[in-house]
Amino acid sequence: MAKIKRATFGSKVGVILASAGSAVGLGNIWRFPYETGNNGGAAFILIYLGCVLILGLPIMISEFIVGRRSRANTAGAYSVLAPGTPWKWLGRIGVLTAFLILSYYSVVAGWTLEYIVEATTNSFVGKSSSDFITSFITFSSNPWKPILWLVLFLLGTHFVIVKGVEKGIEKSAKIMMPTLFILLIVLAICSILLPNAGTGIEFLLKPDFSKVTSSVFLSAMAQAFFSLSLGMGCLTTYSSYFGKDTNLTKTAFSVGIIDTIVAILAGLIIFPAAFSVGIQPDAGPSLIFITLPNVFQQAFSGLPALAYICSVLFYVLLAVAALTSTISLHEVVTAYLHEEFKITRGRAATFVTAGCIFLGIFCSLSLGVTKEYTLFGLNTFDLFDYTTAKIMLPLSGLFISLFVGWYLNKKVVKAEITNDGTLKTFLYHIIIFLLRFIAPIAIAFIFINELGLLK
Ligand code: PHE
Repeated sequence: MAKIKRATFGSKVGVILASAGSAVGLGNIWRFPYETGNNGGAAFILIYLGCVLILGLPIMISEFIVGRRSRANTAGAYSVLAPGTPWKWLGRIGVLTAFLILSYYSVVAGWTLEYIVEATTNSFVGKSSSDFITSFITFSSNPWKPILWLVLFLLGTHFVIVKGVEKGIEKSAKIMMPTLFILLIVLAICSILLPNAGTGIEFLLKPDFSKVTSSVFLSAMAQAFFSLSLGMGCLTTYSSYFGKDTNLTKTAFSVGIIDTIVAILAGLIIFPAAFSVGIQPDAGPSLIFITLPNVFQQAFSGLPALAYICSVLFYVLLAVAALTSTISLHEVVTAYLHEEFKITRGRAATFVTAGCIFLGIFCSLSLGVTKEYTLFGLNTFDLFDYTTAKIMLPLSGLFISLFVGWYLNKKVVKAEITNDGTLKTFLYHIIIFLLRFIAPIAIAFIFINELGLLK
């Protein structure tokens, strides 16, 4: 059995911190702003919030139920709760999804290391926005540098998984996460105070529903699943270590709220700054890497020491936030290989790390030297992102809601949600209703709509 964090999971803070550590990451600070930018701003955010509320939270509670009840890795969990049925495939597909996400996520996590070095060596000083764009393109399309960082980041994750220094990570996360939070608030204020920040704030707050298409719905749903770490068994694996008295509903709400606030703060930093310095909001995956250095330069223009400290601190904290997410992804696959194939944990972890380095190299190169090789118009990096976030996660979410809503014995579900009758039950009925009807229908509707079958 995977040995992550049993000790700290005795405490409520440990439970929330580990789950929030998985949820809060590049998904909030890197992916959320560029998806918002690509999908027209405020209207996307409203749909996103709707998805978090009616899909994300009930499905997160479902994953908690499956994990805590079965006390097994995500693939094993379905075999425990539904022995001899094809439901085990739900867990297995989750493991595959985690593996694919980890491969391309680590590419971006590696970029944060490059930016730590740039911030530390003062390379942002005196550059204009177009310089930041050029230097990002030069860096990300370089065949070697991003791969070097990718490998380093994965080895770091590997080290944590193998050495079991999770406790250390959690302890430092207890300090780092609140620090990141405070820094985000400071940066948001600085960004809002930049000249012409108003257009960016309007973009974030004033919904333009004429921009809403079927793919905006799909993107918002995908972002909700991705950001909350849902649909691939991460939270199922973690909840197999929850205590009997952990309030699953409360934990899900806490994680959902923390995750959403961090994403909104990231938006409040990026968009006022992007509009202020004339960077297009739909710049895509490069958005935070070309916008943020501008914030550090311009917002603290008279205070170079503060600009230096904030920029170094920001990228360090971003890397840590990414690390707590890559650990959770890695753990899903490692625990699966270790338990199901009876190989040692160290060997399981080595397979995962080596496999992710291999795939990650293809993802990284596809942003530079191999960018003309595409499938359905997408390079390897975008293809991985599209397939996992927009297809695999929501589809698994659909089946998880069906599993808990319809398949699992209602007594079991009720016992888990109410901690054997010790907690109030009014939410139980709402959760079951959302799981049985709303979540599956909404997810199916968004897919069908995207396929253009509704016209
Ligand atoms: N939720 C993480 C983030 O926002 C990414 C992640 C996705 C982690 C899926 C685990 C599973 O960065």
